Amino acid sequence: MKIDVLALFPNMFEAVMSQSMMWKARDRGLLDFHAHDIRDYAVDKHRTVDDSPYGGGGGMILKPDVLVRAIEALKPDDRSPVILMSPQGRLLTHSVSVELSQHARLILVCGRYEGVDERVRELAINDEISIGDYVLTGGELAAMVLIDAVLRQIPGVLGAEGAQNRDSHADGLGGLLEGPHYTRPAEFRGLGVPAVLTSGHHAEVDRWRRRQALKRTWRMRPDLLAGAELSDDDMAFLAGLIEEAGD
Ligand code: ADE
Repeated sequence: MKIDVLALFPNMFEAVMSQSMMWKARDRGLLDFHAHDIRDYAVDKHRTVDDSPYGGGGGMILKPDVLVRAIEALKPDDRSPVILMSPQGRLLTHSVSVELSQHARLILVCGRYEGVDERVRELAINDEISIGDYVLTGGELAAMVLIDAVLRQIPGVLGAEGAQNRDSHADGLGGLLEGPHYTRPAEFRGLGVPAVLTSGHHAEVDRWRRRQALKRTWRMRPDLLAGAELSDDDMAFLAGLIEEAGD
């Protein structure tokens, strides 16, 4: 996958994109990443990228000429998403990250200041994504979150093939959160490990994990249960939890 980012602070990407999974993806030739400085597309001697809003009010707006010139310089083809990172966009979810991972190329535009001139959206943007209902100082951190979530969906990026399918929110878990995990030592500060995990009964372990995932999702994110794939067994287990809680 090729990812181009347009940002006012392109150096913010250096540390994140040169470590861990991001670095491995680049090293294995699965990611071709470039962060470009929007300021390089300004034409005046002060390299101006923003201006005050028509109609008054506070804040500065990213200029349409500079931003559209920057996007066009990347020569997006008709199929490539050109995504504005913004708190007004559609929410980044697991299914959005899977959808984006299927493209050969992404262009991410990071806003700053009060926003971007509306004509940039009309002329050069075809998607707009938010990473949550809060406002960041700029789109750079949001772009890094999106890149991480998307890359781990690309086959070969994660070491263990299919590991991403067992993650919370992934299809392998039917849209549930993952349950608890344990590793050695068997006892830590007086706390043990559930006996089923050391029993060697794989079917029992799977059943326990499924039930723990149901329990955790019900406690932490009950809203996810509405969209989860639930068997009759799952439904019966959840009914039991609800009944217990009602006591
Ligand atoms: N830029 C500012 N806030 C943002 C958010 N919540 N998501 C994506 N981009 C942003």
